[in-house]
Amino acid sequence: MKVTVVGAGAVGASCAEYIAIKDFAEEVVLLDIKEGFAEGKAMDLMQTASLMSFDTKITGTTNDYSKTANSDVAVITSGIPRKPGMTREELIGINAGIVKTVSENLVKHSPNVILIVVSNPMDTMAYLAHKVTGLPKNKIIGMGGALDSARFKYRLAEALECPQSDVDGMVLGMHSDTGMIPLTRLATRNSVPVSNFLSNDRLAQVLEDTKVGGATLTKLLGTSAWYAPGAAVSSMVQAIACDQKKMFPCSVLLDGEYGMKDLCIGVPVILGKNGIESIVEIPLSEEEKEIMEKSAVAVRDVNALLN
Ligand code: 2OP
Repeated sequence: MKVTVVGAGAVGASCAEYIAIKDFAEEVVLLDIKEGFAEGKAMDLMQTASLMSFDTKITGTTNDYSKTANSDVAVITSGIPRKPGMTREELIGINAGIVKTVSENLVKHSPNVILIVVSNPMDTMAYLAHKVTGLPKNKIIGMGGALDSARFKYRLAEALECPQSDVDGMVLGMHSDTGMIPLTRLATRNSVPVSNFLSNDRLAQVLEDTKVGGATLTKLLGTSAWYAPGAAVSSMVQAIACDQKKMFPCSVLLDGEYGMKDLCIGVPVILGKNGIESIVEIPLSEEEKEIMEKSAVAVRDVNALLN
């Protein structure tokens, strides 16, 4: 399994690190446009191999896409991150051009690659990747819901005062401060609905804290988060590499599912060796359907900026 990670910044390097530590890939290629940066990060990571006991070979390259040839999976993290107070959507002006060029270069050297898009505004960047590459729709996956769901579980465990391993929950919709949909109705503590333990007000607080999870960290860090985004991507890559048939909420191109077409938005999918093995249509409440539709309108508004 060869994995390319484009962008050796905090998210890309964290993703490469977690992939290496999980040791399911033979090779990880880190690519960045900044001279020597990816090479340095790769070398530093390789010097942890004996300490972290992994065999994955990590190499770095400065913008030489020939080194990414025949990648099975490629992760696009390149582009500028948010500054405090910014929305993800405000990044489109710069990141759209970067994601377009990166996607084209990746597919040129790896025609059968599965792309995982992280760059923001992610739902629109995933949609852009479809437009510029023409890859089969099962081979382009936007990473947002896996991260938002991890933040949802963190907030639920905090409210429940229980281990995160006892909690399950999923976030659908647009990867944005206003458009995501934490499914509080279906969240559980060890298979028991969380509404058995938390008041409506406390659940509402969990929902709001989840929605601004990224912005909260950007305010604290002065830039976008990287550990949890990197970890979320590495879990998706692992599901593909090991053909796990694992369910994640991912931003994928819909063609009628959930009553929607021609947009990428977060829905439950099964990830395996083919990338998106299937899209899972779960019954939503009327309220959830309404919020999902509003989320789709918000995604389409950002998509329209691509023109
Ligand atoms: C986040 O929510 C970077 O969009 C990513 O942290």
